[in-house]
Amino acid sequence: MTVESDLRTGEDAHTAETPTRAGPRDRFGRVIDYLRISITDRCNLRCVYCMPLTAPDLAEGSHLLTADEIETVVRCATSIGFRKFRLTGGEPTLRSDLVDICRRISSTPGVADLSLTTNAIRMPELAEDLVEAGLRRVNVHVDSLSAVTLPRVMRLGSVEKILAGIAAAEAAGLTPIKLNIVVTRDFNDSEVAQLARLTLERDWHVRFIELMPLGSSSEARLSVTNYVSNVDTRARIERELGALQAVPSDNPSDECDNFRVAGAPGVVGFISPVSKPYCGGCNRMRMTADGRFHLCLLNDDELDVRAALRADAPQADREERITQILLAAVSGKPTGHRLADGLHTRGKRMHQIGG
Ligand code: GTP
Ligand code: 5AD
Ligand code: SF4
Repeated sequence: MTVESDLRTGEDAHTAETPTRAGPRDRFGRVIDYLRISITDRCNLRCVYCMPLTAPDLAEGSHLLTADEIETVVRCATSIGFRKFRLTGGEPTLRSDLVDICRRISSTPGVADLSLTTNAIRMPELAEDLVEAGLRRVNVHVDSLSAVTLPRVMRLGSVEKILAGIAAAEAAGLTPIKLNIVVTRDFNDSEVAQLARLTLERDWHVRFIELMPLGSSSEARLSVTNYVSNVDTRARIERELGALQAVPSDNPSDECDNFRVAGAPGVVGFISPVSKPYCGGCNRMRMTADGRFHLCLLNDDELDVRAALRADAPQADREERITQILLAAVSGKPTGHRLADGLHTRGKRMHQIGG
């Protein structure tokens, strides 16, 4: 894809101007200061649009970055102005050293925000230790509150366990609680108003996400055939709960359009990568669990960083090289996608990138 066509497909998003931020700029002028670090491609749930139920192709254990290696990358990232960090997966709570990883990242100078995207199943045993290790907040993936629907879509999941996990995270202070609901036709699309209703009782952010087809697997095909636009999701919610009121955002990189049901303490959000691309405001870089900078969620381009981490060289030289690779990843970051045409990537699935 050429730079010109990249710009064309990305131009309908937010403005890229954020002059006060310190991070590196890409060739489109976007400040990239948010690193999403996947720490495992394993997951205990296997959602229909994300991960195959059997025989998923997983990275070799020895290729997963260690806590020490992750800390090194974070130190290099903060040295050039990265400020916001999120741990993702797969399911990041499956890493037995998650608390250690959080402690190392949160105590790195320059880290302003550390958060986690999780299915919350393991939160009851982890939440307090994670807070003590410096984790600030969690986003929880949960597609339904129905004990019948949830295991159809999050195949090995249970509503009871996820709700217990959310309660544990909230009690430990990992707030604001944000819920990620991927809307999938014929699975949970008839339940969106009921899910939005949660905001009447709780100060949670209930966020509806459009399906993105990643890779060329059957999960990606389902993401095309069972796609629901957030235009339709919002209309369904408004039919039942009345007109939503816009909540103005002071963050141009927030990919979520936020609203409130009249009088509700919580927020209803829409993340609409297909129907309303937000590439122009993107501030993200990603690192896969096996140590590659993944330049854009909707693109296959990657740069290897694991080899530099494991090179036989003094630590200072290694860090210099890693910083150069990260700067190259930022300047090579593409913009724009053609999801609306049903075109998608050829490489990794969502659990291999981290959303
Ligand atoms: P906050 O800091 O709380 O706003 O977190 P977040 O929304 O960045 O993180 P989360 O892991 O909860 O991501 C929510 C969803 O947004 C992901 O599951 C993806 O579906 C989508 N998403 C995140 N980053 C990108 C991106 O760069 N491009 C696209 N197209 N979608 C993204
Ligand atoms: N499309 C959109 N979002 C997805 N997620 C997983 N697979 C998809 C997909 N195909 C979301 C989950 C999780 C986040 C990291 O990615 O909601 O919270
Ligand atoms: Fe696991 Fe999240 Fe993928 Fe579901 S969407 S299989 S919970 S990584």
